[in-house]
Amino acid sequence: MNASANTRRLVVTIDGPAGAGKSTTARALAAQLGYIYLDTGALYRAVAWKANTTGIDCSNPVALKDLLQHMDLHVTLEDHTTRTIVGSQDVTPFLRAPDVTRVASTVAAMPEVREWLLPIQQQFGQAGGIVAEGRDMGTRVFPNAEVKFFLNADLNTRTSRRYQEHRQAGHDGNQEDIRHQIHDRDTRDQSRNIAPLVPATDALVIDSSPMTVDEVVATMMESITARL
Ligand code: DC
Repeated sequence: MNASANTRRLVVTIDGPAGAGKSTTARALAAQLGYIYLDTGALYRAVAWKANTTGIDCSNPVALKDLLQHMDLHVTLEDHTTRTIVGSQDVTPFLRAPDVTRVASTVAAMPEVREWLLPIQQQFGQAGGIVAEGRDMGTRVFPNAEVKFFLNADLNTRTSRRYQEHRQAGHDGNQEDIRHQIHDRDTRDQSRNIAPLVPATDALVIDSSPMTVDEVVATMMESITARL
């Protein structure tokens, strides 16, 4: 279904843990609705990439603040891809590397980083017509979003989905390592003091474990079209 020109352009948020299927479903929804797609994990990953390449201790707030002050981050959302440009370099191809993934959850727990990224994310929602994906979209970045989802799946399902993605991307790794990494990352994302991963009170919680991508997208489209 394509949304017609005279329908409302909503802010749709999808939060949830790693491997629940947020990116795939968010992209599919954005394509069906003719909306932009914002992958906010890419922004945290870009900060992690910069911290890694600069070699700073990213659990040190002073070093991190200094890094952000000198970080020129530019984001474009064409063709349902969130491209992040740091300085003059398009760093998008480097952001899924395991060492960036590891550091991303550390920088995401730092208030300095979350504050810095807040207006960068919010500017994309000003005109509506956006599907935004992350951990705190419905709770903090777009608390007034018209439609909010919290997409979950059990640890086994998420592990095997991530394992397939890793193999397809040509990265090494075995399933047990990936299971531990996801579990540790979930714990860090859920237990941090600032913007922890929790469903917004007005979010529709979907367990995608037994569902295909098409089924998840169809369930979400039902909620969205009711609001158009
Ligand atoms: O979704 P992802 O795996 O690309 O996210 C990378 C890291 O950033 C992950 O540890 C969660 C964190 N993150 C966050 O804290 N808030 C967001 N809105 C998006 C991602």
